[in-house]
Formats: sequence, C-alpha cells, structure tokens
Amino acid sequence: MKTIIEPFKIKTVEKIRLTTREERRRILRDAAYNLFLIPAADVLIDLLTDSGTAAMSSRQWAAMMDGDEAYAGSRSWFRFEETVRGIFGFKHVIPTHQGRAAERILFASTCRQGDVVPNNTHFDTTRANIEYRGAAAIDLVIPEGREPSVVHPFKGNMNPQALKDLIRERGRERIPLVLLTVTNNSGGGQPVSMQNIREISGISRAAGIPLYIDACRFAENAYFIKLREPGYQSKPVREIVREMFSYADGCTMSAKKDGLANIGGFLCTNDGKLAEQEKELLILTEGFPTYGGMAGRDLEAIAVGLGEVLDEDYLQYRIVSTQYLGDHISKAGVPIVQPPGGHAIYIDAKAMLPQIPPLQFPGQSLACELYHSAGIRAVEIGTVMFGRKNPDTGEEVPAAMELVRLAIPRRVYTQSHVDYVVEAILEVHERRSSLKGYRIVHEAPFLRHFSARFEPL
Ligand code: F0G
Repeated sequence: MKTIIEPFKIKTVEKIRLTTREERRRILRDAAYNLFLIPAADVLIDLLTDSGTAAMSSRQWAAMMDGDEAYAGSRSWFRFEETVRGIFGFKHVIPTHQGRAAERILFASTCRQGDVVPNNTHFDTTRANIEYRGAAAIDLVIPEGREPSVVHPFKGNMNPQALKDLIRERGRERIPLVLLTVTNNSGGGQPVSMQNIREISGISRAAGIPLYIDACRFAENAYFIKLREPGYQSKPVREIVREMFSYADGCTMSAKKDGLANIGGFLCTNDGKLAEQEKELLILTEGFPTYGGMAGRDLEAIAVGLGEVLDEDYLQYRIVSTQYLGDHISKAGVPIVQPPGGHAIYIDAKAMLPQIPPLQFPGQSLACELYHSAGIRAVEIGTVMFGRKNPDTGEEVPAAMELVRLAIPRRVYTQSHVDYVVEAILEVHERRSSLKGYRIVHEAPFLRHFSARFEPL
C-alpha cells in the first residue's frame, strides 16, 4: 500500500469552528495582529506548537483514573521512575512540571557567572535560563544547519571542531556542561546522528565535561537515525534510544512533546551528589521529589505516553505526515527548511516574500495571512521573536532567518486536515506578491513576541 494511514481510530472528538473571512479580519484586528492573542476557539487548525497539544490514548486516560495522589511515595511515581529509567538508563530521575523547570534546576545547580554552555542550537527557554545565571549560551550547529535550503540527513549535528576550539579557548573549567538538543527545534526540527552524539560525547568526556541531552523529541530523533544512519535499519527504536542516551551523563525533558502528555517533564543525571542538590531546589519551587509539580495522574499519563511514543507504527505515521505537508508545499514552489523536520515544517518567509524587508516582519505577515485566509495558526520565528536592539544605537538588528513554523500536534489532525493546510498555503503563495509588512506599535522589553501589538503597513 502507498498510503500511510493514521495508526489509530478516533474515540472522542472535539468540535472545531469554521469562521468566515470577515470574522477573522475582525478577530485579527482585535488581537492587534498577534496570533498569540487570538482565542483558541477562533482557530480552525492550530499549528502554533506541538507542545502539550497531543491527543492522549484511551490507555493514557484509563491510567489517569488510576493515578495515586499521595504526597509522598505515590504508586504513580514509582511507575514513572521505573519507566524513565528503563528507557533512558539514568540513575536519578527528578520530576518537574515541564521542560523549562528542569532547565532552571539544572543550570542553577551547575552554572556560574561567566560560564559558557554550548548546544547545537539552544531553545529560547534554555538560553534564557542560562543567561539568567550570568552564563553565555553558544550555538555550535554545523554550517549546513544554518542554511534553510541545504539538504543534509543530520542537519542538527553539532560541529565537533567548534566544540574543541571552544574548550581550548575558554578552558574546561568555564564549561559546566555540553548540551545536545534532539531533534534541533530552533534549527528546523532536524535530527542529530548517533555518530555525532558519540563524537561530541567523546570530546566532552575527554575534557571532563558532562554531556546532557535536551530530550524533548528523542523518539522522533531515534526514528530518523533508524531511517537514515547506516547500521540502524533493523534496530528497534527502543535500542537506538538506549544507545543515544548511553553517551550522555543526564538529560532534560519536556513530556509535553514526546511524552505524549499535556503537561510534565523531568531531569535525569548519573551524578548522585548533583541529584541531591537538585532535589533541594526542586522542593523549594516544584514540589516533593516524588511528584515535582505534577499530579499523580500526570505521572501515569506520561509513563504510558513514553511507551506509546516508541511504537514504530506511530513514529512512521508521525514522520511521514510531517514530510507529506513539507513535500506537497515545496513541490509547488513554497520555500521551506529542507529536509522536512520531525515535528514541524518551517516556511522561509524571507525567500517567499522578498518585497517585505526583515524589519517589516515577513514571517508575521505570512502567519497573519494564513489565519486570515484559512483560520490556520502558525508562529513567526524571525525578527519579531529574535530581533535584537543594538545597545549603542538603539537600532533594530534583524534575526538570521525569517521563518514561519507549522508545528504538528501529535495524533490530533488527520490527513484531510493536512490537505486543507496544503491548499491554504498554496493559495496564499499564489498571491504572495500582494502581501505587505507590519510595524510594531507596542512591545515588552523581553520575549516581545508574546504580547507585541502590530499594525499593517
Ligand atoms: N527544549 C526544547 C528543544 C523545546 O522545544 C522546548 C519547548 C523546551 C525545551 C521547553 O519545554 O515548554 O515544557 O518548558 N518548546 C515549545 C515549542 C514551547 O513550541 O517549541 P517546556
């Protein structure tokens, strides 16, 4: 058979509402052309994020009913801990309410003023938590990873030579840990190869620096290794995952992605002394170490979700359906980050809308038009999100890329939803030369994309 179908049937449905173009024109205006400010009920297909938006299975819902809500030593905690240890192989598991809480605790326990933390590409909360400690977050992705149209099977890889140079220049004592993000979200959802994980681990270990993996999309990364890396075609994904993490000393995880859950996360380490320190911080803000900011039922949902995400029928459908969207729009001439990533397709708005200069936000223009014309919500990842003010002149410096991310929630939309998204993008692409830029009329000093107000030019 050629068609890869959704490997599930639907037991519960949730209505989505088709609004008219006129209504969406008004909704956009009321939200000051910021899609974060639009009520979700007014969105037809919501591709804002793949985080916390998964559909849970009947087994996850059943497990939730069985959640043990004891404060200390709940049965659900032991099930969660055993599952995480079984998959990732680390000694100590610290539960947190989501990924950034794990990051905050990790960096508060390891980073000092003046340190540097390399990553392939830091996600924005990771960078913010490192910078909050007075340390610098450095991106060392391979050069191919910065070129949207360049095809490379493992575009998320870290540049080993750049890591060696950084260790030599800064000194190992200023680098508390090396991070690798699988898949590389900020670089287009691109995977990291086993060979690269092994090599980066070798360099880090030789310098006595621990390697951590940002594991958010670990299963999608492992499936790409199975598809693309010689020697892994007949290995079960569970074994590939075990090998990936065997090269690391710990990980951070947002269970809102490959945990197939709506909330939750964890931090792992093999270092017993560090784990003790981290648990002390955990108690201050997250909770007791056997629940860490989650309800017992959340622990159950994640324990089941982590098993389901390793199901290879699921992973095949996941990777193929994201690719289906990417291939269909790219065949028709829409410029995207190549090759399609695991959880999202990124449209290159700079290439698609050359008439709109970066400081007039081409990504914002495209995202607004996709909502206006079809009720689809995507997110700008460009100058609105990552533009910087020059501290001396106050002048705005554009971001390196102007992307629009279409993130696919897990198990939520069917192929006909994706076909509708393809049609909508192609329709906007046809009349791309008529799209205009925007200007910001109000912005916050940090993370302005969440609350900025815009006006069309
Ligand atoms: N690391 C990566 C690679 C992420 O993509 C995210 C979240 C986090 C850490 C933080 O996890 O949200 O549970 O605190 N990414 C979401 C996104 C928000 O839309 O890409 P969190």
